[in-house]
Amino acid sequence: MPERVTLARYLAEQRPETRGLDELSGLVQQVTDACKGIADAVRGGALRGVLGSADAANTQGEEQKTLDVLANERLKEAGLWGGRAAAVASEEEAEAVPAPAGQPSGPYLLLFDPLDGSSNIEVNVSVGTIFSILKAPSEGTASIEDFMQPGTEQVAAGFVVYGPSTTLLLTLGNGVAQFTLDHGAGEFVLVNDNVQIPAQTKEFAINVSYQRFWEAPVRRYIDECLQGEDGPRGKNFNMRWIASMVADMYRIFTRGGIFIYPRDANRPDGRLRLMYEANPMAFLAEQAGGAATDAHQRILERAPEQIHQKVPVVIGSKEEVDRLTGYHQAS
Ligand code: AHG
Ligand code: MN
Ligand code: MN
Ligand code: MN
Repeated sequence: MPERVTLARYLAEQRPETRGLDELSGLVQQVTDACKGIADAVRGGALRGVLGSADAANTQGEEQKTLDVLANERLKEAGLWGGRAAAVASEEEAEAVPAPAGQPSGPYLLLFDPLDGSSNIEVNVSVGTIFSILKAPSEGTASIEDFMQPGTEQVAAGFVVYGPSTTLLLTLGNGVAQFTLDHGAGEFVLVNDNVQIPAQTKEFAINVSYQRFWEAPVRRYIDECLQGEDGPRGKNFNMRWIASMVADMYRIFTRGGIFIYPRDANRPDGRLRLMYEANPMAFLAEQAGGAATDAHQRILERAPEQIHQKVPVVIGSKEEVDRLTGYHQAS
């Protein structure tokens, strides 16, 4: 029976100089504690009144679901009243939200997609929470400009999948660790301390219904995959598209694959948001031996200009990401 390593112990082992009692460890624990509460609400579904629309739209014009709002409130509370974040930024908040006046202004900035895959809530398909942590300015409250840091500046990132089991993938910049929530004990328990994305794959994830809008490199790449073993790739591919980035990406961290949300004729920057979807996923992917580009350059090197900006995403098994990125660079 392997030793039971909780998240608290993992943080202590990763940060022996503070025995995991430092501000970053504390913020990670506050965020994942909020996710435990969200997991509990998600599991209740219709019986907890968390389905359906909140009859509001977010700053990006997306319909807000009841669970989007609930998750957002839980994570804001963890970030703003936990004394470790100077401010938070969320998919569901138009502007950055500073820590309340009089509250200690913590040394970090917390960014999150409180509920990813919202369109799947009513149909009981896995959804999740994505978070990213940056350093705050040394003194005083944080402004929106302080968030404008490239993904290479992240000090931690992770995501939780509310699925058949509740799982957490986390990086502190020293590899990727995988945890499963022991619902009875209320603890995230380590199941793999060295997650690796296989460099090769036979699985691609893309929303093919937009094919008529794709640019040539994406058409070429998918067409070659579809030609199978008799085509230029010399192997048969399979397709998966869950429409929950956290669920598609968890599969890729588990068995490899390439996830593509490209720019197209309708969406010049794709659909996914740089600061709280692409950057945390890219940090985790690179830490697990995978790759992540905007089809031309590393996502982590993109210089952000505004908190909700979108970015094309090509992420997962390194050989496939390099191939598709190469097609774009050659075009
Ligand atoms: P969110 O629910 O946080 O707005 O994100 C949804 C995203 C992502 O999770 C998923 O990969 C993508 O939207 C699905 O897009 P399509 O519905 O266009 O396939
Ligand atoms: Mn949304
Ligand atoms: Mn999302
Ligand atoms: Mn969301």
